[in-house]
Amino acid sequence: MTPIPNRRPLIAPSLLSCDFARIAEEVRAVEEAGADLLHVDVMDGHFVPNITIGPLIVEAIKRHAARPLDVHLMITDPDRYLAAFRDAGADILTVHWEACPHLHRSVQAIHAMDIPAGVSINPATPVSLLRDIIGDIEMVLIMSVNPGFGGQRFIPRALEKISELRTMADAAGRKDLRIEVDGGVTRDNAAELLRAGADILVSGSAVFRSGDYTAYIASLRQS
Ligand code: DX5
Ligand code: ZN
Repeated sequence: MTPIPNRRPLIAPSLLSCDFARIAEEVRAVEEAGADLLHVDVMDGHFVPNITIGPLIVEAIKRHAARPLDVHLMITDPDRYLAAFRDAGADILTVHWEACPHLHRSVQAIHAMDIPAGVSINPATPVSLLRDIIGDIEMVLIMSVNPGFGGQRFIPRALEKISELRTMADAAGRKDLRIEVDGGVTRDNAAELLRAGADILVSGSAVFRSGDYTAYIASLRQS
């Protein structure tokens, strides 16, 4: 399995906020600006109210990407589409706890395709519900907004959830578990997120509206 890059923190710009008409240029620009991962938000209009991109666009992004594609599936019944997104070029696949009645099976299906598996929880889903899955996954994605849209305000409770998850993972012998945080991440809250135990910062609108991707990504990393 190709591991998640080891550096800490990893900065993952969310392409949801890029200029989709110039996606190849945007991918190149954030990579040159220091992105470690490219975060790709897949939404189906059922699990979340918005519809974004499918495997076809992931494949197009992959053709221009040098960094791993961190694909966040905000879709109902993700099992049906895991292979399609892997074939399209996903390097990490994250499914939502709330969308997977047989979460362990979904994780096994991702691992069977030889890539790391992530599980995401919504703001109202407690960290404690991950207890019986953290031994089997490489990453947890803590949503710090309700999934569906870029540009929303950070929900501060996510900070406590990150600390709680870090403690739980350490106690379970999973110091290597990556904690990713997604939603409302800016250079103003990056430092406290990293202090709480986050390893991977997803940032969409803040990066793409910054006017200077290099400076902004550096400011997230140096927080
Ligand atoms: C929200 C997505 C996020 C989104 C983050 O549902 O999962 O990845 O793009 O955007 P910002 O950083 O603008 O909150
Ligand atoms: Zn996301």
